Amino acid sequence: MMDILLGLQWGDEGKGKIVDYISENYEIVARFQGGPNAGHTIEFDGKKFVLHLIPSGIFRDKTMNIIGNGVVLDPVTFKQEVLDISKYSNVSKNLIISDKSHLILPTHKLIDAAQEKAKGKNKIGSTLRGIAPTYTDKISRNGIRTGDIFLSEFEEKLKKHIEQHKRILDFYNYNYEELDQKIDDFLEAIEFLRNFKIENTAYWINEQITNGKKLLAEGAQGTMLDIEFGTYPFVTSSNTISAGACTGLGVPPNKVGKVYGIFKAYTTRVGAGPFPTELFDENGDLLRKKGHEFGATTGRPRRCGWLDLVLLRYTTMINGVTDLIMTKADVLSGFDKIQVATEYIEKSNKTKQLPLNIEDVKPLYTALDGWNEDLSQISEYENLPLTFKKYKNFIENYLNIPVSMISTGAERNKILKL
Ligand code: GDP
Ligand code: IMO
Ligand code: MG
Repeated sequence: MMDILLGLQWGDEGKGKIVDYISENYEIVARFQGGPNAGHTIEFDGKKFVLHLIPSGIFRDKTMNIIGNGVVLDPVTFKQEVLDISKYSNVSKNLIISDKSHLILPTHKLIDAAQEKAKGKNKIGSTLRGIAPTYTDKISRNGIRTGDIFLSEFEEKLKKHIEQHKRILDFYNYNYEELDQKIDDFLEAIEFLRNFKIENTAYWINEQITNGKKLLAEGAQGTMLDIEFGTYPFVTSSNTISAGACTGLGVPPNKVGKVYGIFKAYTTRVGAGPFPTELFDENGDLLRKKGHEFGATTGRPRRCGWLDLVLLRYTTMINGVTDLIMTKADVLSGFDKIQVATEYIEKSNKTKQLPLNIEDVKPLYTALDGWNEDLSQISEYENLPLTFKKYKNFIENYLNIPVSMISTGAERNKILKL
C-alpha cells in the first residue's frame, strides 16, 4: 500500500518533521515531485537538518528512500546534501533515484532568474532553483533525465542543451559570465551522482508493494502551489496533490491507502500571490516571531495569517484527505481570540468555494477563544487546554475529517497522537 502525506496550504506545513517521525513505520519513503525548491526541516537529538531533495525517511536506517520520476534533481544540491548528512545517515545504501527524474542544469537556474527578473512587478517569488525551466524542458520533450548520465554521448547532449539555453539567456539579455565554473561544478557533481543506485524505480516500488511493504509518499510544496489547483500563476510547476504521487512514482491509484493532509494551525505563504487571511498587523508579526517563520530554503520571511477553512475544505477535497495532521499548535498560545475564516465574500455574495481568482475575496471569520498554556510541555492529549480542544473540534467538524496527530514543537518527539 502507498500512503501519501502532503501539505494543504502553501508549503512549509511541517512535512519533514512528520515524515521523519512516522517513517519509522514505513519500509519506503518516496519524493514524487518538486525538487530543491523544497526545504524540509527535521530535528532530533539536538541536531537540525534541512533536506531539499533527499526524502525525510533518510535518518531511519531500516527505511529505503526514493527520489521518484516526478522529481527534478539538481546534482550540485544533491552532492552537498549527501555530504551534509553523511555522518548521520548511510545515503548510498538507503537511497534509489529514478532514472526518469529530470536533471536541473546550471542554465535552468539562470533562466529561472532571468524570467523572474523579466516579470518585473509580477514576480512569482520563485526559489530560483531552476524548477520552472526544468519542468518546461521536460514537458516540451527537451529535458535530460538522470539515467542519461550513463550514455556515452551525455556530455555532447549536455553541451547542446547549454547552447540552446544560452540563446534563451541572450533573449533576456541575461549575463552568464560565470557559467563555465558552474558547468565544471555540475560535471563534478554528475561524477558523484554516478555512484548512487539509479534505476527504473517503478519496478522496484511496485514489487515491494506486492510483497506487502508499506510506502509513504512525501509531498513537497503544498496544494495551493499545485500547477492545476493552486493560485495560478503564483504556483510551482508540478502536481503537488495526491494524484501526483501516482504519476510521480508509477504507483496505480488502487494502491493508495491513507492520505495524510498536513496543515499549520494558522497559515503562511512565502513568495508572491493572493493570501486572503494574511495579517498585516501585530498579530501577523507575532505569528512570524513565535513560529520562526523564515523560509528553510531561501531564508525569506514568510507571510502569516489566520487559519483558512474555506481553503482547507477545498484542498482536503482535491486530495481525498483521510487524516488531518495539525502542526505548530504551540505557536498559537497567548492569543486572546483566534480567528478562523469560515466563508468568503466574493462580489457581495457569501461563498464557501474558491473563485478562479482569490485576490479580491474577503474572508468572514469566526472567533474562538485562545489559550495561554505552553503546549510543547504537554505530552497527553487529555491534558491540553479545553479551548485548544474546542479549536481542534471546530476544524474537524467543519472539514468532517478527523485530526490524527498534533505537533507541538520542532523536535521529533513533540507530537501527540489521537
Ligand atoms: P516543510 O517544508 O513542510 O517540511 O516545513 P519547513 O521545514 O519548511 O517549515 C516548518 C518549520 O516549522 C521548521 O522550522 C520546523 O522545524 C518547524 N516545526 C515543525 N513542526 C513544528 C511544531 O509543531 N511547532 C513548532 N514550533 N515548529 C515546528
Ligand atoms: P516545501 O516543500 C513554500 C513557492 C515559492 C514561490 C513559488 C514558485 O518546503 O513546503 P518555484 O521555485 O517552485 O518555482 O517557486 O512556490 N515555493 C514554496 N513555498 N514551501 C516550499 O516547499 C516551496 N517551494 C516553492 O516561494 O512562491
Ligand atoms: Mg519547507
